Amino acid sequence: NKGKYEHYMQKEIHEQPESLTTTMRGRLIRGGSCKSKSVLLGGLKDHLKIIRRSRRIVFIGCGTSYNAALAARPILEELSGIPVAMEIASDLLDRQGPIYREDTTVFVSQSGETADTLRALEYALENGALCVGITNTVGSAIARNTHCGVHINAGCEIGVASTKAYTSQIVVMAMLALAIGDDTISSQARREAIIDGLFDLPSKVKEVLKLDQEMNDLAKLLIAEQSLLVFGRGYNYATALEGALKVKEVALMHSEGILAGEMKHGPLALVDENLPIVVVATRDACFSKQQSVIQQLHARKGRLIVMCTKGDAASVCVSGSCRIIEVPQVEDCLQPLLAYHLTVLRGHNVDQPRNLAKSYTSK
Ligand code: UD1
Ligand code: M6R
Repeated sequence: NKGKYEHYMQKEIHEQPESLTTTMRGRLIRGGSCKSKSVLLGGLKDHLKIIRRSRRIVFIGCGTSYNAALAARPILEELSGIPVAMEIASDLLDRQGPIYREDTTVFVSQSGETADTLRALEYALENGALCVGITNTVGSAIARNTHCGVHINAGCEIGVASTKAYTSQIVVMAMLALAIGDDTISSQARREAIIDGLFDLPSKVKEVLKLDQEMNDLAKLLIAEQSLLVFGRGYNYATALEGALKVKEVALMHSEGILAGEMKHGPLALVDENLPIVVVATRDACFSKQQSVIQQLHARKGRLIVMCTKGDAASVCVSGSCRIIEVPQVEDCLQPLLAYHLTVLRGHNVDQPRNLAKSYTSK
């Protein structure tokens, strides 16, 4: 039932304050005396010791699920100190890439049935790695065949374009990072700040969803364009890839997510006064680098749409000639959850994009 919404995708986007709350329910703990704030992931508590001892954590997934893992990678590296590798399931299989007994492999999948991810799981099981699932579907093949895991509890996702599952996956992986790092005293303040940020997240997402009309106006402006570039880095590299994926899938427009640090190594040649470019430049450790990227794009007369933290319009766009979209401030590693909305809030909002299925369960 779509209720007041025209499409499931739109409904699922607007459901996120609730789906994120359900994802965190019973898993974030505030209170108690010495350990005031912590995370409890029931499905992982008996495996955390092995995960902490692993030589590598390898995230494996496809499409949006891969992007969600990419968004969580920096916080997992920071809080666990364990190297985190990223694998697109089909590419891992094509290469028969090395997976070891000392690895923790994490399979991320909304449906839990994606054929490539499932085959990569079989491959990792054969190679003796610990296999962890992050899935939305209880009883799915990936949930059943992993050694342990976490259900994201985002509720049923019907739209082919994954939206609320993406944000809930990131939240689960941020909680995974908090749980793995739970025994490190030096990062306690950081972890507590992230937990506070997670508690505040549903209300911040609600705030961002109010920009619906503004995003609609922006979409109208871009509708006739051939192409759209999205620049991000750090926590928001994944936002750039995921935003571009949604534009392709839903608006049927060519779009490319670009790591801003790679700009000078090719993409800069595309910049002119016609091609629209979205730059994600929220407040985090990469902010000043993004400011300089904006200046360089501006010097080449780029048509810029800058997403920044509230109050930062003047510092991201000195010339005043960019279109600005502001999001509320949250803890840096949670920022992708807000910036992401701006790239998907308004597409064509179709539930069944041309040529695509909700899940690919065969070759
Ligand atoms: C579980 C219950 C939840 C209950 C809560 C109370 C289920 C599905 N969940 O949630 O209803 O309210 O206890 O404490 O019954 N798993 C995998 N692979 C995956 C995902 C999960 O092996 O991809 C395993 C987990 O290791 C765990 C089980 O499935 O053994 C349930 O996982 P999850 O639902 O995340 O656990 P809880 O949050 O503890
Ligand atoms: O069910 P999964 O998470 O395993 O699906 C993976 C991809 O097929 C999926 O995320 C796809 O990229 C989405 N349609 C993107 O919106």
